[in-house]
Amino acid sequence: MNVEGCRHGSKSGAPTFEKKDLHAAVAGLKGAVSFHASLRDYTSFKIGGPADVLVEPADVDDVCRLVRQASGRKVPWFVLGGTNLLVRDGGVRGIVVSLAKLRAIKEEPGSVLYAEGGVGMPTLIGHAIRRSLAGLEWAAGIPGTVAGCVVMNAGTRLGEMKDSVKGVRLVNTKGGIIDLPFAEIPFSYRRAKLPRGIVVGVWLQLKQGVRTEIERIVKDYLHYRRDTQPLAMPSAGCVFKNPPKDSAGRLIEAVGLKGARIGDAEVSTKHANFVVNRGEARAQDVLDLIGKVKRAVKRQAGVSLELELKIVGEA
Ligand code: EPU
Repeated sequence: MNVEGCRHGSKSGAPTFEKKDLHAAVAGLKGAVSFHASLRDYTSFKIGGPADVLVEPADVDDVCRLVRQASGRKVPWFVLGGTNLLVRDGGVRGIVVSLAKLRAIKEEPGSVLYAEGGVGMPTLIGHAIRRSLAGLEWAAGIPGTVAGCVVMNAGTRLGEMKDSVKGVRLVNTKGGIIDLPFAEIPFSYRRAKLPRGIVVGVWLQLKQGVRTEIERIVKDYLHYRRDTQPLAMPSAGCVFKNPPKDSAGRLIEAVGLKGARIGDAEVSTKHANFVVNRGEARAQDVLDLIGKVKRAVKRQAGVSLELELKIVGEA
Protein backbone atom coordinates (compact mmCIF):
# COMPACT_ATOMS: atom_id res chain seq x y z
CA MET A 1 0.00 0.00 0.00
CA ASN A 2 1.51 3.29 -1.04
CA VAL A 3 1.27 6.82 -2.33
CA GLU A 4 2.74 7.73 -5.67
CA GLY A 5 4.94 10.80 -5.51
CA CYS A 6 5.56 13.33 -8.21
CA ARG A 7 7.43 11.82 -11.11
CA HIS A 8 9.92 13.91 -13.00
CA GLY A 9 11.87 12.50 -15.86
CA SER A 10 12.79 12.50 -19.51
CA LYS A 11 10.35 11.64 -22.27
CA SER A 12 11.61 8.04 -22.19
CA GLY A 13 10.48 7.91 -18.57
CA ALA A 14 14.01 7.53 -17.18
CA PRO A 15 14.71 9.82 -14.25
CA THR A 16 16.92 12.78 -15.17
CA PHE A 17 18.28 13.69 -11.74
CA GLU A 18 21.92 13.25 -10.84
CA LYS A 19 23.59 11.67 -7.84
CA LYS A 20 24.30 15.08 -6.30
CA ASP A 21 20.58 15.93 -6.55
CA LEU A 22 19.76 12.75 -4.68
CA HIS A 23 22.16 13.66 -1.88
CA ALA A 24 20.87 17.24 -1.74
CA ALA A 25 17.27 16.01 -1.57
CA VAL A 26 17.92 14.02 1.62
CA ALA A 27 20.45 16.43 3.22
CA GLY A 28 19.85 17.57 6.78
CA LEU A 29 16.99 15.21 7.58
CA LYS A 30 16.60 14.06 11.19
CA GLY A 31 15.40 10.58 10.22
CA ALA A 32 17.27 7.55 8.88
CA VAL A 33 18.71 7.70 5.34
CA SER A 34 20.20 4.63 3.61
CA PHE A 35 21.56 4.56 0.10
CA HIS A 36 21.12 1.53 -2.16
CA ALA A 37 18.82 -0.13 0.36
CA SER A 38 17.28 -3.48 -0.54
CA LEU A 39 13.48 -3.24 -0.42
CA ARG A 40 13.03 -6.98 -0.06
CA ASP A 41 12.87 -6.74 3.73
CA TYR A 42 10.46 -3.81 3.61
CA THR A 43 7.75 -5.61 1.69
CA SER A 44 5.37 -8.32 2.85
CA PHE A 45 6.16 -10.20 -0.40
CA LYS A 46 9.89 -10.36 0.51
CA ILE A 47 10.64 -9.47 -3.11
CA GLY A 48 12.21 -6.43 -4.74
CA GLY A 49 15.40 -4.70 -5.88
CA PRO A 50 17.05 -1.72 -4.16
CA ALA A 51 15.93 1.87 -3.66
CA ASP A 52 18.48 4.52 -4.68
CA VAL A 53 17.82 5.87 -1.22
CA LEU A 54 15.42 4.83 1.51
CA VAL A 55 14.33 7.52 3.96
CA GLU A 56 12.47 7.18 7.24
CA PRO A 57 11.49 10.76 8.18
CA ALA A 58 11.62 11.37 11.93
CA ASP A 59 8.42 13.42 12.02
CA VAL A 60 6.00 15.44 9.87
CA ASP A 61 8.44 18.39 9.64
CA ASP A 62 11.01 16.00 8.23
CA VAL A 63 8.47 14.83 5.60
CA CYS A 64 7.85 18.48 4.60
CA ARG A 65 11.56 19.17 4.30
CA LEU A 66 12.15 16.02 2.28
CA VAL A 67 9.36 16.77 -0.18
CA ARG A 68 10.48 20.40 -0.60
CA GLN A 69 14.09 19.39 -1.23
CA ALA A 70 13.17 16.53 -3.56
CA SER A 71 10.72 18.64 -5.58
CA GLY A 72 13.32 21.42 -5.91
CA ARG A 73 15.85 18.96 -7.34
CA LYS A 74 13.31 17.08 -9.46
CA VAL A 75 14.08 13.82 -7.69
CA PRO A 76 11.06 11.46 -7.75
CA TRP A 77 9.79 10.01 -4.49
CA PHE A 78 7.46 7.25 -3.63
CA VAL A 79 5.91 6.16 -0.31
CA LEU A 80 6.31 2.55 0.57
CA GLY A 81 3.43 0.98 2.41
CA GLY A 82 4.90 -2.37 1.62
CA THR A 83 1.93 -4.70 1.90
CA ASN A 84 -0.12 -4.48 -1.31
CA LEU A 85 2.93 -3.94 -3.40
CA LEU A 86 5.28 -5.68 -5.80
CA VAL A 87 8.69 -4.02 -6.25
CA ARG A 88 10.30 -5.06 -9.52
CA ASP A 89 13.73 -6.71 -9.48
CA GLY A 90 15.60 -3.63 -10.74
CA GLY A 91 14.44 -1.60 -7.74
CA VAL A 92 13.18 1.97 -7.48
CA ARG A 93 15.00 5.08 -8.76
CA GLY A 94 14.93 8.14 -6.58
CA ILE A 95 13.67 8.29 -3.01
CA VAL A 96 11.59 5.65 -1.29
CA VAL A 97 9.89 6.96 1.84
CA SER A 98 8.94 4.76 4.78
CA LEU A 99 6.58 6.28 7.35
CA ALA A 100 7.60 3.73 9.98
CA LYS A 101 8.59 6.45 12.49
CA LEU A 102 5.25 8.27 12.24
CA ARG A 103 3.37 6.07 14.67
CA ALA A 104 1.61 8.27 17.23
CA ILE A 105 -2.07 7.74 18.06
CA LYS A 106 -4.05 10.53 19.75
CA GLU A 107 -7.55 10.52 21.11
CA GLU A 108 -9.89 13.40 20.36
CA PRO A 109 -13.36 14.16 21.72
CA GLY A 110 -16.37 12.39 20.19
CA SER A 111 -14.79 8.93 19.73
CA VAL A 112 -12.26 10.21 17.21
CA LEU A 113 -8.75 8.77 16.87
CA TYR A 114 -5.98 10.59 15.04
CA ALA A 115 -3.35 8.14 13.78
CA GLU A 116 -0.10 9.16 12.13
CA GLY A 117 0.41 7.65 8.68
CA GLY A 118 2.86 4.94 9.69
CA VAL A 119 0.62 3.38 12.34
CA GLY A 120 -0.07 -0.24 11.44
CA MET A 121 -3.71 -1.31 11.22
CA PRO A 122 -3.22 -4.11 13.80
CA THR A 123 -1.83 -1.55 16.30
CA LEU A 124 -4.72 0.81 15.61
CA ILE A 125 -7.30 -1.93 16.06
CA GLY A 126 -5.61 -2.96 19.34
CA HIS A 127 -5.83 0.65 20.54
CA ALA A 128 -9.49 0.92 19.53
CA ILE A 129 -10.31 -2.30 21.39
CA ARG A 130 -8.63 -1.05 24.59
CA ARG A 131 -10.73 2.14 24.40
CA SER A 132 -13.94 0.20 23.50
CA LEU A 133 -14.14 2.06 20.19
CA ALA A 134 -16.02 0.23 17.44
CA GLY A 135 -15.82 0.70 13.68
CA LEU A 136 -12.55 -0.85 12.56
CA GLU A 137 -13.43 -4.52 13.08
CA TRP A 138 -13.67 -5.06 9.32
CA ALA A 139 -9.91 -4.43 9.05
CA ALA A 140 -8.85 -7.26 11.38
CA GLY A 141 -5.88 -9.00 9.82
CA ILE A 142 -5.00 -6.26 7.33
CA PRO A 143 -1.27 -5.72 7.83
CA GLY A 144 -0.82 -2.32 6.12
CA THR A 145 -0.33 1.18 7.50
CA VAL A 146 -3.29 3.45 8.08
CA ALA A 147 -1.99 5.82 5.36
CA GLY A 148 -1.76 2.99 2.85
CA CYS A 149 -5.25 1.80 3.77
CA VAL A 150 -6.68 5.27 3.15
CA VAL A 151 -4.92 5.78 -0.17
CA MET A 152 -6.27 2.51 -1.54
CA ASN A 153 -9.53 2.62 0.41
CA ALA A 154 -8.70 -0.84 1.74
CA GLY A 155 -11.67 -3.01 2.46
CA THR A 156 -13.05 -6.43 3.16
CA ARG A 157 -16.50 -7.94 2.99
CA LEU A 158 -17.30 -6.32 6.34
CA GLY A 159 -16.42 -2.75 5.48
CA GLU A 160 -13.92 -0.33 4.03
CA MET A 161 -11.76 2.56 5.06
CA LYS A 162 -14.13 5.26 3.82
CA ASP A 163 -16.70 4.14 6.41
CA SER A 164 -14.46 5.48 9.20
CA VAL A 165 -12.36 8.31 7.73
CA LYS A 166 -13.20 11.75 9.16
CA GLY A 167 -10.28 13.55 7.58
CA VAL A 168 -6.78 13.23 6.18
CA ARG A 169 -3.60 15.25 6.83
CA LEU A 170 -1.36 15.38 3.80
CA VAL A 171 1.98 16.92 2.92
CA ASN A 172 1.57 18.29 -0.59
CA THR A 173 4.23 18.38 -3.31
CA LYS A 174 5.35 21.85 -2.17
CA GLY A 175 6.02 20.53 1.32
CA GLY A 176 2.97 22.23 2.88
CA ILE A 177 0.51 20.56 5.25
CA ILE A 178 -3.14 20.37 4.19
CA ASP A 179 -6.05 18.90 6.13
CA LEU A 180 -8.85 17.45 4.03
CA PRO A 181 -12.26 16.69 5.52
CA PHE A 182 -13.99 13.47 4.46
CA ALA A 183 -16.49 15.36 2.27
CA GLU A 184 -13.64 16.59 0.04
CA ILE A 185 -12.18 13.14 -0.63
CA PRO A 186 -13.80 11.14 -3.46
CA PHE A 187 -13.60 7.50 -2.42
CA SER A 188 -14.34 4.61 -4.77
CA TYR A 189 -13.66 0.87 -4.84
CA ARG A 190 -10.05 0.49 -3.58
CA ARG A 191 -9.22 4.10 -4.29
CA ALA A 192 -9.22 7.52 -2.63
CA LYS A 193 -8.66 10.41 -4.98
CA LEU A 194 -6.24 12.57 -3.01
CA PRO A 195 -4.04 15.43 -4.17
CA ARG A 196 -0.48 14.33 -4.87
CA GLY A 197 1.44 14.13 -1.64
CA ILE A 198 2.14 12.03 1.42
CA VAL A 199 -0.60 11.08 3.87
CA VAL A 200 0.92 11.76 7.28
CA GLY A 201 -2.18 11.37 9.45
CA VAL A 202 -5.79 10.21 9.44
CA TRP A 203 -8.74 11.11 11.67
CA LEU A 204 -11.07 8.19 12.21
CA GLN A 205 -14.64 8.60 13.40
CA LEU A 206 -15.41 5.58 15.58
CA LYS A 207 -18.22 4.92 18.01
CA GLN A 208 -18.39 3.85 21.61
CA GLY A 209 -18.99 0.11 21.80
CA VAL A 210 -18.68 -2.83 24.16
CA ARG A 211 -15.09 -4.03 24.43
CA THR A 212 -15.88 -7.75 24.65
CA GLU A 213 -18.17 -7.52 21.62
CA ILE A 214 -15.58 -5.64 19.49
CA GLU A 215 -12.92 -8.15 20.54
CA ARG A 216 -15.15 -11.09 19.64
CA ILE A 217 -15.83 -9.76 16.11
CA VAL A 218 -12.11 -9.09 15.54
CA LYS A 219 -11.13 -12.56 16.76
CA ASP A 220 -13.80 -14.34 14.68
CA TYR A 221 -12.72 -12.44 11.61
CA LEU A 222 -9.04 -13.17 12.21
CA HIS A 223 -9.89 -16.86 12.50
CA TYR A 224 -11.86 -16.73 9.25
CA ARG A 225 -8.92 -15.12 7.48
CA ARG A 226 -6.40 -17.56 8.96
CA ASP A 227 -8.60 -20.46 7.84
CA THR A 228 -9.11 -19.17 4.29
CA GLN A 229 -5.96 -17.17 3.46
CA PRO A 230 -2.23 -18.04 3.39
CA LEU A 231 -1.32 -15.53 6.11
CA ALA A 232 1.80 -17.44 7.21
CA MET A 233 3.53 -17.10 3.84
CA PRO A 234 5.05 -13.97 2.25
CA SER A 235 2.47 -12.42 -0.10
CA ALA A 236 1.00 -9.05 -1.00
CA GLY A 237 -2.59 -9.89 -0.07
CA CYS A 238 -5.17 -10.13 -2.82
CA VAL A 239 -3.67 -9.71 -6.28
CA PHE A 240 -6.84 -8.82 -8.21
CA LYS A 241 -9.88 -6.70 -7.42
CA ASN A 242 -13.09 -8.65 -7.18
CA PRO A 243 -15.16 -8.28 -10.35
CA PRO A 244 -18.71 -7.01 -9.71
CA LYS A 245 -20.75 -9.63 -7.82
CA ASP A 246 -18.03 -12.28 -8.10
CA SER A 247 -14.77 -13.29 -6.44
CA ALA A 248 -11.42 -13.29 -8.23
CA GLY A 249 -10.34 -16.24 -6.05
CA ARG A 250 -13.36 -18.29 -7.11
CA LEU A 251 -12.73 -17.55 -10.79
CA ILE A 252 -9.02 -18.43 -10.61
CA GLU A 253 -9.82 -21.71 -8.87
CA ALA A 254 -12.53 -22.44 -11.47
CA VAL A 255 -10.01 -22.17 -14.33
CA GLY A 256 -7.79 -24.71 -12.58
CA LEU A 257 -4.87 -22.48 -11.58
CA LYS A 258 -4.78 -23.02 -7.82
CA GLY A 259 -1.22 -24.15 -7.05
CA ALA A 260 0.18 -23.03 -10.45
CA ARG A 261 3.86 -22.07 -10.15
CA ILE A 262 6.51 -20.07 -11.94
CA GLY A 263 9.84 -20.24 -10.13
CA ASP A 264 9.08 -19.74 -6.44
CA ALA A 265 5.90 -17.75 -7.13
CA GLU A 266 2.77 -19.81 -6.56
CA VAL A 267 -0.98 -19.24 -6.83
CA SER A 268 -1.86 -20.09 -3.24
CA THR A 269 -3.46 -23.48 -2.71
CA LYS A 270 -5.45 -21.91 0.16
CA HIS A 271 -6.88 -18.84 -1.61
CA ALA A 272 -6.40 -18.46 -5.35
CA ASN A 273 -6.40 -14.63 -5.32
CA PHE A 274 -3.10 -14.71 -3.40
CA VAL A 275 0.30 -15.29 -4.97
CA VAL A 276 2.77 -16.53 -2.35
CA ASN A 277 6.55 -16.40 -2.35
CA ARG A 278 7.83 -19.89 -1.56
CA GLY A 279 11.33 -18.56 -0.86
CA GLU A 280 13.31 -16.98 -3.64
CA ALA A 281 10.62 -15.73 -6.03
CA ARG A 282 11.66 -12.85 -8.29
CA ALA A 283 9.26 -10.08 -9.21
CA GLN A 284 9.41 -11.32 -12.79
CA ASP A 285 8.16 -14.76 -11.71
CA VAL A 286 5.17 -13.10 -10.02
CA LEU A 287 4.47 -10.92 -13.07
CA ASP A 288 4.62 -13.93 -15.41
CA LEU A 289 2.27 -15.87 -13.14
CA ILE A 290 -0.18 -12.96 -12.93
CA GLY A 291 -0.14 -12.71 -16.74
CA LYS A 292 -0.89 -16.41 -17.04
CA VAL A 293 -3.81 -16.14 -14.58
CA LYS A 294 -5.26 -13.08 -16.33
CA ARG A 295 -5.12 -14.76 -19.75
CA ALA A 296 -6.70 -18.00 -18.50
CA VAL A 297 -9.57 -16.24 -16.71
CA LYS A 298 -10.25 -14.08 -19.78
CA ARG A 299 -10.14 -17.05 -22.13
CA GLN A 300 -12.11 -19.52 -20.04
CA ALA A 301 -14.48 -17.31 -18.05
CA GLY A 302 -14.64 -14.19 -20.25
CA VAL A 303 -13.71 -11.92 -17.31
CA SER A 304 -10.94 -9.29 -17.41
CA LEU A 305 -9.38 -9.26 -13.97
CA GLU A 306 -8.02 -5.94 -12.78
CA LEU A 307 -4.99 -5.68 -10.51
CA GLU A 308 -5.44 -4.64 -6.89
CA LEU A 309 -1.71 -5.15 -6.34
CA LYS A 310 0.42 -2.11 -7.07
CA ILE A 311 3.59 -2.64 -9.10
CA VAL A 312 6.54 -0.24 -8.90
CA GLY A 313 10.17 -0.05 -9.95
CA GLU A 314 12.28 -1.15 -12.90
CA ALA A 315 12.57 -4.60 -14.47
N1 EPU B 1 -13.24 -18.78 -3.22
C1 EPU B 1 -12.95 -19.87 -4.00
N2 EPU B 1 -11.64 -20.22 -4.17
C2 EPU B 1 -10.63 -19.51 -3.64
C3 EPU B 1 -10.93 -18.37 -2.86
C4 EPU B 1 -12.26 -18.01 -2.67
O1 EPU B 1 -13.84 -20.54 -4.51
O2 EPU B 1 -9.46 -19.90 -3.84
C5 EPU B 1 -14.65 -18.44 -2.97
C6 EPU B 1 -14.99 -18.64 -1.49
O3 EPU B 1 -15.35 -19.97 -1.24
C7 EPU B 1 -16.15 -17.70 -1.29
C8 EPU B 1 -15.83 -16.54 -2.26
O4 EPU B 1 -14.88 -17.05 -3.19
O5 EPU B 1 -17.34 -18.28 -1.67
C9 EPU B 1 -15.29 -15.31 -1.55
O6 EPU B 1 -14.08 -15.67 -0.87
P1 EPU B 1 -13.57 -14.87 0.42
O7 EPU B 1 -14.59 -14.83 1.49
O8 EPU B 1 -12.23 -15.40 0.77
O9 EPU B 1 -13.46 -13.39 -0.06
P2 EPU B 1 -12.78 -12.75 -1.32
O10 EPU B 1 -13.82 -12.02 -2.07
O11 EPU B 1 -11.94 -13.72 -2.06
C10 EPU B 1 -12.33 -10.47 -0.08
C11 EPU B 1 -11.21 -9.45 -0.12
C12 EPU B 1 -10.09 -9.88 0.80
C13 EPU B 1 -10.63 -10.06 2.21
C14 EPU B 1 -11.75 -11.13 2.14
C15 EPU B 1 -12.39 -11.41 3.48
C16 EPU B 1 -10.93 -8.33 -2.26
C17 EPU B 1 -10.29 -8.38 -3.61
N3 EPU B 1 -10.69 -9.36 -1.46
O12 EPU B 1 -11.80 -11.67 -0.63
O13 EPU B 1 -9.12 -8.83 0.80
O14 EPU B 1 -9.61 -10.43 3.10
O15 EPU B 1 -12.78 -10.66 1.24
O16 EPU B 1 -13.15 -10.29 3.87
O17 EPU B 1 -11.60 -7.36 -1.93
C18 EPU B 1 -7.00 -7.94 0.15
O18 EPU B 1 -7.61 -6.90 -0.09
O19 EPU B 1 -5.75 -8.02 0.07
C19 EPU B 1 -7.78 -9.10 0.54
C20 EPU B 1 -7.23 -10.29 0.64
